[in-house]
Amino acid sequence: MRTADNQPAKRDSFASSFGVLVAMAGSAVGLGNLWRFPYLVGQNGGAAFILIYLGFVILAGLPVMLAEFIIGRRSQASARRAFQVLAPGTHWGITGILGVICCILILSFYSVVGGWGIEYLFKSVRFDFTYGNQENLKTLFSSFSTSVWRPLICHTVFLALTAGIVIAGVQKGIEKFSKVMMPLLFLIVIGIAVRSMTLPGSGPGLSYLFKPDWSKVTSQTFLAALGQAFFSLSLGSCMVITYASYVKKDANIISLSAQTAAADTVFALIAGCAIMPAVFAFGISPGEGPDLVFVTLPHIFSQMPLGGVIAIFFFLALLLAALTSAISILEVIVAFCMEEFKMKRTVADVLVFFVIWVLGCLCSLSMGPLSSWKVLDKNIFDLFDFLSADFLMLLGGLLIVIFAGWKLGRKVVYDEFTNGGTLPVPAWMLKTLLFLIRFVAPAALLAIAIFQIHE
Ligand code: TRP
Repeated sequence: MRTADNQPAKRDSFASSFGVLVAMAGSAVGLGNLWRFPYLVGQNGGAAFILIYLGFVILAGLPVMLAEFIIGRRSQASARRAFQVLAPGTHWGITGILGVICCILILSFYSVVGGWGIEYLFKSVRFDFTYGNQENLKTLFSSFSTSVWRPLICHTVFLALTAGIVIAGVQKGIEKFSKVMMPLLFLIVIGIAVRSMTLPGSGPGLSYLFKPDWSKVTSQTFLAALGQAFFSLSLGSCMVITYASYVKKDANIISLSAQTAAADTVFALIAGCAIMPAVFAFGISPGEGPDLVFVTLPHIFSQMPLGGVIAIFFFLALLLAALTSAISILEVIVAFCMEEFKMKRTVADVLVFFVIWVLGCLCSLSMGPLSSWKVLDKNIFDLFDFLSADFLMLLGGLLIVIFAGWKLGRKVVYDEFTNGGTLPVPAWMLKTLLFLIRFVAPAALLAIAIFQIHE
């Protein structure tokens, strides 16, 4: 059944505000927090990086999230159509298409890393790390990630789990799954943080996290911090637009955005407290890079009292965090196909599964047999990561704040923030947020872009 303007008559929606919050937090909290954040902190000077990161979350992340919320909730439509509903007859829909492309690239490599999580969960259940030292755990990881079959099988399982949740729909799939998994995830990571911080010799790890060392900060640090803020909050790729399109008209957009950003940031800090103190307690250098989670941590688990059990919980957390994020990325693409090509959810879900599966296989093989296929001097995996996280998300974010701040304009923004005047939001807050959306976020994004081109 369709209404006069050809909108599907019944759109799925989230059942409650709590449901929206856990789904949004589920999207935000992911490999970005457990895998990317700790190693970036390690490479970029600890607390100094964290402070710059927090600055970007507030000055660029929050405004983009608010802008996406406004666009999604007001239009009640998926990535491209959202822009067309709000600005008919313009080319703004391209922003939505860029978002969908960005999500396709992200999910392709995300699913591969999610698959590694599955493999490592199995390894930890079999207590495979018990006798490992740093060298043979490094070999274990590189021989696994560069091999052909096992990573492909794990990627397939991870993507199938993701597609299995999304096929059940927004309320019965995404919301239900996130409601159970997110509280569990927080509990596990808090537990690991307590264990890590009570290890003898963990003190220097904590001061590394909370005492800034500005000497490691370079222009690259700023780019890394901004990219990480966008990646971690799932911004600039129409993810928030898509989820917000399932949010009811009486929900409070400002508090949902603030709570999501806060939950994600707090989780990243807890993950830091779970990892850094242990890294220091065992005398390992914090700047290990992307291998941190798959080599250094198993090494630490092998030496820590109760480490074998902690390893199981850690990789379980990694997998859950990755799944609740992957479903949000997949939902952007599936919702797009459903609305643009009038597909049923099942058909769209299966179709997108196959496309991402093929691209993910290429990403996975680019670690091993296809490592000589290079574009811009990067293998396929790194290319997808670079194009999405360092380019499309930032471009998308810029277009989105400009659209909300200048094209939709003050009246619409205030109207969405106050739900048509029914929510008592103080005037100074409205003005400040609009200022962030109109000036501060675009300036930060442009400055970083110019900086990067100059390098
Ligand atoms: N935020 C997630 C993480 O930290 C990743 C993610 C989920 C994402 N949805 C997204 C990234 C959409 C970009 C766009 O792991």
